[in-house]
Amino acid sequence: SFSTTAMASISRITVIGGGQMGSGIAQVAATHKHEVTLVDVSQEALDRGKAYMAKSLKRVAKKKHAEDEAAQSQFVAEIMSRVSLSTKPQEAVSRADLVIEAIVENLKVKQDLFAQLSKAAPQQAILASNTSSLPIGKIAELLDSQRKQRFIGLHFFNPVPQMKLVEVVRTKEADQEVVDSAVAWVKAIGKAPAVCKDTPGFIVNRLLLPYMMEAIRLLERDVASAQDIDTAMKLGAGYPMGPFELCDYVGLDTIKFIVDGWHKDGEGLKGNPLFASSTKLDELVKQGRLGVKSGKGFYDY
Ligand code: CAA
Ligand code: NAD
Repeated sequence: SFSTTAMASISRITVIGGGQMGSGIAQVAATHKHEVTLVDVSQEALDRGKAYMAKSLKRVAKKKHAEDEAAQSQFVAEIMSRVSLSTKPQEAVSRADLVIEAIVENLKVKQDLFAQLSKAAPQQAILASNTSSLPIGKIAELLDSQRKQRFIGLHFFNPVPQMKLVEVVRTKEADQEVVDSAVAWVKAIGKAPAVCKDTPGFIVNRLLLPYMMEAIRLLERDVASAQDIDTAMKLGAGYPMGPFELCDYVGLDTIKFIVDGWHKDGEGLKGNPLFASSTKLDELVKQGRLGVKSGKGFYDY
């Protein structure tokens, strides 16, 4: 069937950015027998990414092989053996079937990265961005039309090993065959695809960000404490995490990049008060309280 062909053609994956998301994507791809190269700007960042993967894989291993520490270690080592680390993006994409970018949420930085990558990636490679909020078409803007046909969004959710959804974002220029291959690949790594047009926030974030910002505004208006708002949404609405736990989990810098970007020039969202800046959020980010990843956010970790 077509999907088998599509899957067979994607076996070497390069993930650029080894933070919370990139390390998770690399981990899941390697778990499903893909050869993965993880790229970041420094050895220090790569070591951090590797540590994220090892920690998460240990949790999986403990469930899979309870009471058997040797089997746990072997499980982790076997998956990690398929992951190579690199600080050289061009070299790392030279043999890739699929490149997934998960670097900082900044349009110019992402555009520049892809301009570099397009000089080295195979012509048939699928190029994808894991952006939360930037238009996929804009990220691909500097590329030629052939590249644009093979450029899509592959939007994973945090924590990647645990969250089942991947939004497959189709631009106007993307080939149907590329979208089909991506959908097949998402299924092959055990995730559920949702195909969506290239509009701000796609599906999940277009609904989730207004909710998070409204929660922050409740706090700013002193309606209730962060703890009580979190308890209310967990026990009153069945959410696994309250909005402040979720903000800390996603990263407050990432949330700020998203809402500021949409408020400034999001297609159809410019000036929308749902995405107006928040003094509270701005302050926390300025203080380096970025959430779980920096040890402090709305809460201390
Ligand atoms: N790696 C491996 N396994 C993990 C893991 C990780 N990073 N995190 C959790 N798990 C596993 C645990 O081992 C545990 O497994 P068992 O139940 O089999 O023992 C299971 O997941 C549940 O974990 P916990 O008991 O620790 O905690 P939990 O039940 O609260 O679940 C959670 C954790 C899945 C993260 C859950 O709290 C949740 O779904 N939270 C909401 C997450 C969410 O909304 N993410 C989307 C954010 S928005 C986004 O990502 C998009 C964007 O662009 C900003
Ligand atoms: P993060 O801060 O944890 O990681 C970003 C990583 O990218 C860092 O390790 C950094 O060193 C690296 N990096 C930055 N510039 C780079 C470059 N030019 N080349 C190579 N590496 C570079 O961030 P994150 O939470 O993993 O988010 C990454 C991307 O995924 C963003 O676009 C974000 O919007 C998106 N995203 C985040 C979440 C989330 O919940 N955090 C969910 C879905 C999508």
